[in-house]
Amino acid sequence: MAEKFDVCVVGSGPGGYVAAIRAAQLGKKTAIVEREALGGVCLNIGCIPSKAMITAAHFYHRMMHDAPTMGFAIPKEIDLDFKKLQAWKQSVCGKMSGGVAQLLKGNSVTVFMGEATFKSAKSVEVKGKDGTQQIEAANFIVATGSRPIEIPGFAIDEKDVLSSTGALALEEQVKRVVVIGGGYIGLEIGSYMAKFGSAVTVVEAAPALLNNVADPDCVQVVARRLKKNGVEVLLNAKAKGYKKSKDGLDVTFDIGGKEQTLKADKILLMVGRKPNSDQSGLKNIGLALDERGFIKVNAQRKTNVPGIYAIGDIAGQPMLAHKASHEGVMVAEIIAGHNRAYDAKTVPAVIFVDPEIASAGWMESECKAKGFNDLMIGKFPFGANGRAVSMMETDGFVKIIADAKTHIVLGVHIVGPEASNLISEAALAIEMGARVEDLALTIHPHPTLGETMMEAAEATLGHAIHIIQKPLGARPANGASKST
Ligand code: NAI
Repeated sequence: MAEKFDVCVVGSGPGGYVAAIRAAQLGKKTAIVEREALGGVCLNIGCIPSKAMITAAHFYHRMMHDAPTMGFAIPKEIDLDFKKLQAWKQSVCGKMSGGVAQLLKGNSVTVFMGEATFKSAKSVEVKGKDGTQQIEAANFIVATGSRPIEIPGFAIDEKDVLSSTGALALEEQVKRVVVIGGGYIGLEIGSYMAKFGSAVTVVEAAPALLNNVADPDCVQVVARRLKKNGVEVLLNAKAKGYKKSKDGLDVTFDIGGKEQTLKADKILLMVGRKPNSDQSGLKNIGLALDERGFIKVNAQRKTNVPGIYAIGDIAGQPMLAHKASHEGVMVAEIIAGHNRAYDAKTVPAVIFVDPEIASAGWMESECKAKGFNDLMIGKFPFGANGRAVSMMETDGFVKIIADAKTHIVLGVHIVGPEASNLISEAALAIEMGARVEDLALTIHPHPTLGETMMEAAEATLGHAIHIIQKPLGARPANGASKST
């Protein structure tokens, strides 16, 4: 006998579990199906464990490099027990996943642990440890996410060739690491492994790291830090394959038409992710996909099949957890009859490298592509901010891009300490259609990193206090500086 629900969510990542909780809050009889662990990739093998490792590596690195300047006597070597580190990281994930279980229970969402397969547009079969169950629902929300891409010459075996999952689970230090892909994941993981003492080489096919996904000025700051931390970066280098030899793995790549080889103990394959739309029997119900395999959805995240919605990584870029959660809440509300559609002006993005990069809105190239040719651009460096100096974290800046005619903020790009936490103010400014003056005239508390946002706004207007700008006469009549 099938159990019947108003809403059944398939996949319990930050899209799915949020959708289920919101649907239940709105009085819908809700089920959620998960084949692995509650919280999905993000909480268990992605965002949260990687942030735990990044925090530990940063802590370790600062003890070795910054603490002596502050007067601490630090031994030449600090022992690091990788097994304990792993156990701590797992405890972090366990707490988060346990929290999701409690929230689902507290909201009376029925959890089915097992692999869901669509049998029709109104039913799924769930195969779990305790047998097979049938679920029927008036509405399904597909939130089954994405998985790493493989490229010819490299099959992920989590032994020699690791995905982020294998890399995050390493229980010992690796001497030589070749990271294929200088994007989000490759740089986040490559950076922290270097801090733990691995010799890391990044092989990136594009002419730049974080190519077209981050402000090029911000990327430069990170590239300098990578170099300082001993990470070698090879650009325009396309990985071709690898062979096992007696002293490790020989990784072959093509650079400028020439084939070269690097020695590695582990290869990290981080060349992108693809939607899981070939799984869960989605083809049984005739869902329309785009050319990249994402489920086609409209602004309400409705698919071509009535009663089936798709959210998160499987429903298109950007593949970011917070976009998925936003869609989850929205779809639950649409199912409950609210008048909603996706209309976010920006999805802020954070790359947890060192220093962090965070952005909201458009890059300069995107502004121009959208017809904003007359831009005001201001930058304020962390080196001129008292809190950053007292933290010994002075690399980087806040950069604001605004329309020179209206002064409306079009993009904010931060590279520096706590960029991840600072960017939300910029996202709010862009959502509210704020002008640069709104940021400049908002009193920001002192001494905080947040003051850099206010001063970057002032710099955009040509009159930041803590940096020397062009003399008044050299400024355009409206007080704006074209760039600083
Ligand atoms: P990515 O798309 O960010 O980077 C992949 C890189 O691999 C690209 O720069 C590409 O040029 C390079 N590449 C491809 N084939 C290559 C080859 N044969 N040789 C050398 N380089 C090659 O993908 P990534 O890092 O796997 O991340 C996937 C997605 O996961 C991101 O786009 C992001 O949406 C999400 N993510 C978000 C995080 C966050 O919010 N902090 C953290 C991690 C992932």
